[in-house]
Amino acid sequence: MIDEIRKKFQRELADVRDLKSLEDLRVRYLGRKGELARIFGEIKKLAGEEKISLGRQANELKKEIGNIFIGKNQELKSAARPQKDWLDITAPGIKPPRGHLHPRTQVMRQVEEIFMSLGFSVVDSREMETDYYNFQALNFPKDHPARDMQDTFYITDELLMRTQTSPNQVRYMEKHNPPLRIIVPGKVYRRDASDATHESQFYQVEGLMVDKHISIGHFKAVIGEFFSQLYGQKIKIRLRPSYFPFTEPSFEPDISCTFCDGKGCRICKNTGWLEMAGAGMVHPFVFKSAGYSPYEWQGFAFGFGLDRLVMMKYKINDMRLLNFGDLRFLKQF
Ligand code: PHE
Repeated sequence: MIDEIRKKFQRELADVRDLKSLEDLRVRYLGRKGELARIFGEIKKLAGEEKISLGRQANELKKEIGNIFIGKNQELKSAARPQKDWLDITAPGIKPPRGHLHPRTQVMRQVEEIFMSLGFSVVDSREMETDYYNFQALNFPKDHPARDMQDTFYITDELLMRTQTSPNQVRYMEKHNPPLRIIVPGKVYRRDASDATHESQFYQVEGLMVDKHISIGHFKAVIGEFFSQLYGQKIKIRLRPSYFPFTEPSFEPDISCTFCDGKGCRICKNTGWLEMAGAGMVHPFVFKSAGYSPYEWQGFAFGFGLDRLVMMKYKINDMRLLNFGDLRFLKQF
């Protein structure tokens, strides 16, 4: 009886080609209502030697069949696998998504490179400043009305978020001897409501050149060369008189409009000129703050808004886009 079942099982097993029919076979033999369950049911009804001997044989068959299933199962599975797991090591890989530099960082690096090519060093600086360096050393006494131009975030009476990169003029001159040529790029803070052209955090690039016999002509040449290189076209410069406590005379350099080449367009409001920066000749007070003799040294200083340059370069009409971190926007640059 047991042998018949074994033979029948082996015949049926020979026909199994896939996992599904293997499982069907398993249920038919080892399932709760399967062949073996039936045999055990019958053996139970027997007695004596016969019961013991058949019982032992049936148990052996059960074990045997069980092992065969495990083996066959693995065999079928590994037969099915090769196609799926085949590894083509010559196939091109899956490209991981790659980021890139923020447009402002790209322009910042370009600015740094141009100034370095003109012999300027790039100097790092802090964003939290003292009232002394941000104002007093730059000739803004405590009650100076020009402080109102720069809505300041104060941290304590003496500590503030810098409103300009200019404090680094004095900081740098205190530690270095002239002659010198530096730019100091960095973030500045003002209590401004945010709109398309204002943010409470933005970037400035401070410039300072000190030597003997420095004149406004040097300034015009340096700033003209800088903008021409940045925009890849010849840029004209004009200076409008202005006021800053730490420069004398003070002026605001305009550049010929990069969109219409000075002919007049919507961007330059038909003037042919674009406002670019604040600048001037270093005030003797500032040289004194830094411990330089104003009789011996002259210099020019300037500060321009980096965000403005980025917006003009890429024709972006809203400054806030630069700060939102929206990938749909950033991916374009
Ligand atoms: N710090 C001035 C500003 O933020 C700009 C400036 C820099 C003017 C250097 C003169 C010299 O408006």
